[in-house]
Amino acid sequence: MTKEKIESILAGYATNKKEGLLPILQDIQAQNGYLTEEILAEVGKYLNLPANKIYGVATFYDQFRFSPCGQFHIRICRGTSCHLFGSSTYLERLETGLKVKAGHVSRDKKVSIEITSCMGACESAPVIRVNDEYHTHVTEEGLKALIQSIKEKTK
Ligand code: FES
Repeated sequence: MTKEKIESILAGYATNKKEGLLPILQDIQAQNGYLTEEILAEVGKYLNLPANKIYGVATFYDQFRFSPCGQFHIRICRGTSCHLFGSSTYLERLETGLKVKAGHVSRDKKVSIEITSCMGACESAPVIRVNDEYHTHVTEEGLKALIQSIKEKTK
């Protein structure tokens, strides 16, 4: 992301207002896909906050990423409901089936897996999101089909 692009996003927010930090980081990530040190430094300058403070906030929330996602970015929920419905086992199956560990991107950059906190759809647990598509009430069979489908699309 260019410095000009960062500046154009920042221009939509009040300067020196630290309440703007989360919305700014969300906005930048939505446009860039992930955050970088340069981005955090620019945001810090704009809000007049030290870089380590910005970094601390950004790393505190699971929603922020510091590396690009794969073409298929899988988010698996580890909130309480999803956990009770077996999301830990599902995570292991995803990692094994797609040969990529959570928090990483496959070597060919096609698949990445992220563990998230509650996605706000607990009544539909377990929930897995692939890019913008939500898979709810995921069953063992559904998970197998999902893994197979991603494998076929990334051949
Ligand atoms: S716990 Fe998974 S959506 Fe809420």
